[in-house]
Amino acid sequence: MRRKLIAGNWKMNTDRAAAIKLARGVVGRAGMHSAVDWLVCPPFVNLFPVSEIVKGTPVALGAQNMYHEANGAFTGEMSAAMLLDAGCKYVILGHSERRHILGESDAAVNKKTLAALAAGLIPIVCVGELLDERESGQTAVVIRRQFDGSLANVPAERIEKVVIAYEPVWAIGTGKVATPEQAEEVHAELRGLLKQRYNEKSANNVRILYGGSVKPSNARDLLSQPNIDGALVGGASLNPDDFLGIAAGASN
Ligand code: PGA
Repeated sequence: MRRKLIAGNWKMNTDRAAAIKLARGVVGRAGMHSAVDWLVCPPFVNLFPVSEIVKGTPVALGAQNMYHEANGAFTGEMSAAMLLDAGCKYVILGHSERRHILGESDAAVNKKTLAALAAGLIPIVCVGELLDERESGQTAVVIRRQFDGSLANVPAERIEKVVIAYEPVWAIGTGKVATPEQAEEVHAELRGLLKQRYNEKSANNVRILYGGSVKPSNARDLLSQPNIDGALVGGASLNPDDFLGIAAGASN
């Protein structure tokens, strides 16, 4: 049985005071929903203050990106070791905003994924199609290409440490949510790709999150699908009531 993971991606939001307030709001009530795993991913500069707040609570800490090298002349980048030092357990990789606004390729996401795993961080590797790709019937091809490219060379003994997030780009921050059936179809395909490359047992242990306009009102229908193992939440994670409301959908 896969425990559901409810992950908040705060993106480029929250100054220090707002991050502290939001983290306190989540930590204060997270324990009431013990059937799920919790994660918050603040901006880099707020990792340390949020880490102090979530330490020893059921809420884990994650970052929104990292670089694959260990250290050196890579101005503006963060290594896996730095994120671990800041208290991170997870790191989001290949988010669609990084792929489409900042030009990140599958090859770059792959290097980061391998480096995160080697360092002991849990990567949340994001995949998802654009609207025109969906409308032209390319969804399965795009997902397969991103799966193959971003998760190349992940060894069998490490794949269960990976979390995959399916985030249709047309549903992110748009209020347009994939229907539970549309999401489940892609999640089942991803599970199938895992089975083909690894084996049934490993494939069944990998968590596949859905992301894209998840909120309390649609969480229950999405999270009750057999292959949807949690949510990667953007907008609604900035309000503790909404974020916690999503978890309520997961535990019932
Ligand atoms: P959203 O963002 O919930 O605001 O659509 C999801 C994400 O980008 O992870």
